[in-house]
Amino acid sequence: MKTNDLYASGAVRAALGQTLRPGGVTLTRRLLSLADLRPGAVVLDAGCGCGATLALLRGAGVQALGLDVRTDFLCQAHAQGHGVMQADMAALPVATQSLDAVFCECAWNLSTKDQTLTEFFRVLKPGGRLFLTDIFARGIQSNTWPVRCCFAQATDMHTLTEQVVRAGFCLEVLEDHTDLLKKTAADFVFRHGSLHGFWQAVTGDVHLATAACAASAQARPGLFALVARAEKEK
Ligand SMILES: C[S@@+](CC[C@H](N)C(=O)[O-])C[C@H]1O[C@@H](n2cnc3c(N)ncnc32)[C@H](O)[C@@H]1O
Repeated sequence: MKTNDLYASGAVRAALGQTLRPGGVTLTRRLLSLADLRPGAVVLDAGCGCGATLALLRGAGVQALGLDVRTDFLCQAHAQGHGVMQADMAALPVATQSLDAVFCECAWNLSTKDQTLTEFFRVLKPGGRLFLTDIFARGIQSNTWPVRCCFAQATDMHTLTEQVVRAGFCLEVLEDHTDLLKKTAADFVFRHGSLHGFWQAVTGDVHLATAACAASAQARPGLFALVARAEKEK
């Protein structure tokens, strides 16, 4: 196997560029249109990767801060002038009730999910909002994913919205953007001849590629976007 992280593999980077996930800037722009952030608002991008969303947030006039676990991605984001820190999103080195918004795009499924939601809730000001996109499972989840990826801890839409509400959030928007995931999958097929070819390029192993295709067929992944408000006493 060439890498343990799907989003760091050459096959994914070649297809997706700076945004390391399906939906790309199209989906981030959708979130920004829902966010309508005031100039100077303080926003965390949790799992910021190489900083593509930080650039869009800065362009929107907000104070954007990135956080990620990977040094190589953080170096790329820092080289573009973004403020970043290295930490696990399940233990945020951020003051309680200090943020207007948290963005988290295709990174939550990679974390300790309940603990991460608790942390997002803690750091948001009363009425602050969470902008979350990630993979959900439309079928039966499998435990045979051969790489670390957003598919592996995906649950169905009902389970994930219950989790968000249980953490104290009030759900405001829930959208299905599976069409964007399909476009990404089609791009992988065009580049590698088939999804099996894509997974083989990622894993370097024909058997792992077969396992990934089977897991994908079983899980039938989709892509969601969610906005939730942190309801708290002021
Ligand atoms: C699929 S990539 C998405 C990156 C970025 N959000 C984007 O839109 O391009 C997932 C990112 O989450 C980061 N990540 C994974 N687990 C994490 C954790 N527990 N805490 C912080 N970042 C994490 C990875 O290093 C990676 O940069």
